Order: sequence, then structure tokens, then C-alpha cells
Amino acid sequence: MQETNIRAIFARLDEHSRRLSGTHMRDMFAADSNRFDSFSASCGDLLLDYSKNRLDHRVMDDLFSLARVAGVEKSRDAMWSGKAVNFTENRPALHMALRHGGPDPVLVDGVDVMPGVRGVLERIGEFSSRVRSAGIVGHTGKAFTDIVNIGIGGSDLGPAMVTAALAPYARTGPGLHFVSNVDGSHLGDILEGLDPASTLFVVASKTFTTDETMTNAGSARQWLVSALGDEAVSRHFAAVSTNIPACRSFGIDEDRIFGFWDWVGGRYSVWGAIGLPVVLAIGFENFSRFLAGGATMDRHFLATPLERNLPVILALVGIWHRNICNYPSLAILPYDQRMHRFPAYLQQLDMESNGKHTMADGNGVFRASGPVVWGEPGTNGQHAFYQLLHQGTDIIPCDFLIAARPHEQMGDHHARLVANCLAQSRALMTGKTIDQVLAELKRQGIDDSEAEKLAPHKVFPGNRPSNTIIYQQLDPETLGSLIALYEHKVFVQGIIWGINSFDQWGVELGKQLARDLLPIVMDGTEIQAAQDQDSSTTGLLEWFHSLEKQGD
Ligand code: F6P
Repeated sequence: MQETNIRAIFARLDEHSRRLSGTHMRDMFAADSNRFDSFSASCGDLLLDYSKNRLDHRVMDDLFSLARVAGVEKSRDAMWSGKAVNFTENRPALHMALRHGGPDPVLVDGVDVMPGVRGVLERIGEFSSRVRSAGIVGHTGKAFTDIVNIGIGGSDLGPAMVTAALAPYARTGPGLHFVSNVDGSHLGDILEGLDPASTLFVVASKTFTTDETMTNAGSARQWLVSALGDEAVSRHFAAVSTNIPACRSFGIDEDRIFGFWDWVGGRYSVWGAIGLPVVLAIGFENFSRFLAGGATMDRHFLATPLERNLPVILALVGIWHRNICNYPSLAILPYDQRMHRFPAYLQQLDMESNGKHTMADGNGVFRASGPVVWGEPGTNGQHAFYQLLHQGTDIIPCDFLIAARPHEQMGDHHARLVANCLAQSRALMTGKTIDQVLAELKRQGIDDSEAEKLAPHKVFPGNRPSNTIIYQQLDPETLGSLIALYEHKVFVQGIIWGINSFDQWGVELGKQLARDLLPIVMDGTEIQAAQDQDSSTTGLLEWFHSLEKQGD
């Protein structure tokens, strides 16, 4: 019944799409001076303007009905009440508990998880403040000047992105470095400039079995041991994991192991112990502000009617683009250089969560699921890929993000940044007609026949969709709110598509095949063993081995 109703609403939305197909957004703006007021919503100082999308009240009404019929409110409440919403792994998804400052309990199987959450937070706060104040020092008595976080996926992207975004709050902390790739150049380049005596490693892995992380941790350990001896390991390593026994076997002291729980997904884990490098960089007080920002968005998500609920609106506009307009990707365009890892962070959050083709009942999804998420900070992207955004044959919805106030008072840089951001969303929306182009060429004194030839190349179709998110300043609270906004957006979309946003089985096959191939890659004499591979893999292995030998 529910699925029938959902399909019926999708059919109505398809109708709207046909109805609006001849409408240009610049006419929608011209016809309605209140369009911005009608299609924008806020949470504190954070404003979402979604007026530059080709939709109207009738579309939004049906999208809100879709959310209701799909059970978004019920599922949201189920997630917050600790139900096993991650149904393929039979686990709750309670990352909201990690940033929940309130006194009320959060229950998993009838047990309040908050004392445990607060306990770990206190421990990472205390450990970090002692490292920052040189109360905890290295094996030779030197203070730690550099922290190397070794982790990948959610155990890297969250802390790396947040640390970069909040750099103005990290001026007094140690230098932070992030190693994720199993490519030895990543670790090698970072270790190059470091002194073992003043370097602290944080091995971050939910499972403590991830091949890349364990390989990098092993090599980092060797690097340390060859400089300072075995006995230095316990003083120079800390670990963050749900797998405490594996941390112990690595040689990490009990008081430097910081745990979390299987109800926190890797890509949602920066709010707890995986945030340790962030706390080391910006201090516990600023980290608490970051958590508070996340909690503000949670309260908004849990209590605000759908029509004014930012994550819900962002999700529904995304559904309109992905499922009704069939746009395949989403560009994330922060006008903030410090947010340069934000698109990569959202890539994991969105694509690992919603890149799924199977619904809860085991059937295939009946509409497309998650889009390809990508992006770069503005204004750099303007001089690279915006050409395609404006004149390419694919329409790519964009999310622009911009702060009203910069951290630097540097001449008119920020005014220029803001002007560029607003100009881009306006240019995408309004475009430039052939008549405008011809008039412009005439004003420039170009003769008519030349203008006729040139004009089509200078036309901008416009009518290209974007959201703009604007906030006062990229401070810890705002960053927390922004991340939580997108987390809930992804959740709402997953509910509408009927998929499980909290598992990631799609990453397993590649891992398994890499394990099988490793002995053949390492030992060329076993090339026979590769015969049961496909001819492409066998051929590549043969070339690899012959090229490898040529270097001897
Ligand atoms: O392989 C994907 C993944 O499991 C991500 O979901 C996760 O964030 C990452 O690998 C790292 O996993 P771990 O923290 O267990 O090392």
C-alpha cells in the first residue's frame, strides 16, 4: 500500500516535470517577487535558499507528501529511539548520541549509552589537553609537535576535513597530518619532515582490521622503532577503535585506547573518539562547540515541521533532481578554501550511504538512488569545470556554501568571494539569451555576420538548478550544523528510496579480490595461479611483472 502511494506521488511529480518543462526559472522569478521568501528556510543563522530550482509550490507540496507517505518522520524517530535501523547489520545508528549534550538518556536495548559517550569524551579531552600542554611527552622527554592520524574512509575524512575547516582554531596546537592511502608515498612523504622523538601516531580504525590502516600503522611503528627502539611504541601510539583487544595486541597502552560503539557508522564517527585528532588540534572547548552545532541541527531535524525542516527540504530537492529530472550528479561548491575536503567528506557520506540498488524487502529500487557527489572550492572551480556547469549537455545541480564573515580581514578578498558565489548561482539560473548576446556583440562593434557566427557559442541556457547555504562564519558550531544537515539529508533520501543508508556491502568485493591477488602480485613465480583470473587481469599481471623486473 505504502509503495503504491509512493509510486502514485512519483507519477504526480513526473506530471509536474512535464508541466514545468517549458518554464524558465528567470520567468518564475519575474512572476513572483516573493520567490526567495517562499523557497528558503533557516535554522539559527544558517539559511538554505532553494529558490533557484525549477520547482513551484505544487511540486513542493507533493514532495512533502512523499516524505510523509514514505514514513520519514516515523523512521527519524525510530533512529533516535535506538531501533536497529541498520537492518542488514541489525544495529542502531545513533551518531546523534555522540553530540547530544542534554541530560536525557539515549537507549540502546534499554541501556543508556550516554554515560559511556560522556566517559570517552572526557578521556579524549583530558588526553588531548595533556598532549597540548606537554604533560604527556615522547619517549625521550620531548613534547609532541606533530600528530599523525593513520586511518581511512570515515576514520580519515572526518577528522581531516574538520581539522582543515577549523584551522583558525588550531593555531596553538601541534601540527596535524593524515595518512590514509596504502600507497607508501603517502606515509613516506609525511614522515620525511618529522622527528620520531616528537611525533605521536593515532591509529584510527573502527574495526582495527582495515588493510591500508594496519599496513601504514605497521610501517609507522617500524620507523619509530628503528629510531627510538621497541620500548618507545607505547609512548608514541594511541588508538581509536571498537576493537580494543586488537589495539592491545598492537602494543598500545590501555589508557591510550579510546573506544566507540558498533552503533556509530565509520562515516558518522568524527563526533566521538575518531575526532581525537580534531581535539588535539583545536582543543576540547572548540570541539564541544562543534558537537553543540551538530546537536542544534539534530533538534531542528527532530522537531521542525517538514515544510521548514532544512535536511528534509535539501533531501526532497535532491529527490526532485535525481528521480524526476534525472540529473546524475551533485556538485558541492564551498566558497571557502578551508572547506576543500568537504566535497570528499560528503562523497563518502552520500555515496557510501545511498549508492545502493536493493530495497529493504530485497527487491530492486524502482527509481535511481544516490547521485555522484563531487566538487571543489570556489573560486578555483570557476576556472576549471564551471564551463560544463554553464554550457555542458548535462545539467548538474549545485550546492553553494558561503560565510558572511571571513576569519581574515584581508582587503576586499571576502567581498570578491561572496560576489563570485552569488554571481555563479545567478548565472546558472538566469543564463544569457541569443538576443542578449547579439546586442552585446553589436555594442562591442562586431559586424553582423561575425556576430551571427559567434553568438551561439556565447549563449547560456540558464535554468540550471542550485541551492545556496549561507551562514555567519565557519566556526565550530556552524561546521557541526552543516555536517549534521547533510547527514540527515542523506538519511531522509535513503528512507524515500527504501534502502539501508547505514551499511556498505559494496566495498567488500574489491577488498576480497585484492586479498586474493596480493600473493600473485608479490610473487611473480606464482603467475600460474593467476590463470584462473580473467585474461585481462592475467595479462596485466604479466605486464606488471615484466615491467617490475626491468627495474632490477
Ligand atoms: O571500506 C569502507 C569502510 O568500511 C568505511 O565504511 C570506513 O569508514 C572505512 O572503511 C574504514 O574502516 P575502519 O575504520 O574500520 O578502518
